[in-house]
Amino acid sequence: KQSPIIAPSILSADFARLGEDTAKVLAAGGDWVHYDVMDNHYVPNLTMGPMVLKALRNYGITAPIDVHLMVKPVDQIVPDFAKAGASRISFHPEATEHVDRTIGLIKDSGCKVGLVFNPATPLNWLDYVLDKLDLVLIMSVNPGFGGQKFIPEALEKLRRVRRLIDESGYDIRLEVDGGVTADNIGEIAAAGADTFVAGSAIFNAPDYQAVIAKMRQALG
Ligand code: DX5
Ligand code: ZN
Repeated sequence: KQSPIIAPSILSADFARLGEDTAKVLAAGGDWVHYDVMDNHYVPNLTMGPMVLKALRNYGITAPIDVHLMVKPVDQIVPDFAKAGASRISFHPEATEHVDRTIGLIKDSGCKVGLVFNPATPLNWLDYVLDKLDLVLIMSVNPGFGGQKFIPEALEKLRRVRRLIDESGYDIRLEVDGGVTADNIGEIAAAGADTFVAGSAIFNAPDYQAVIAKMRQALG
């Protein structure tokens, strides 16, 4: 298991001051920027595309940007995000016609690749592609909105994927997204996650640094 990564989701940042707020959360101890892309089609909400990502890079954000695509279709937008400065691109297998092709497209674009599992998405999507992935992302809410409650069934799913990754011996991060707080992050880590997305728990707090420090303390 790898050292823990905390990835603040800027979905809950102040969009009118996005560069400033993103820099602030990184200075407060965030490791990666989690960047949620919603299309009002695959999920019932609309957020931001490659242009806003590019603007963050131009503003001076150099931290890894972890793009979580909740869009359908996937392939045509991949090169735009890569060019804009994405570090990792993760997608939902139900949102593309050819999962293996999309994985290849993301890798060819120079980004690391992740596959995302909704609460009801079965893990057998991993059967023939695990060796090609850099990251598996387990959703602990239904995608579309920040501020939802952690679905406890995600813990068993994390344990299963932890076992699969460990047995495979591959270098794959296990990320969790949705309802992560300083209070439940310890239990989530114990289930096998090593990469933690947190949006509202960080951005709705008065002191980002205090929340992130509390999370790290719970991670041991
Ligand atoms: C939900 C997004 C999450 C969201 C998490 O569809 O994928 O990344 O920002 O927000 P919280 O941490 O508030 O559940
Ligand atoms: Zn996300």
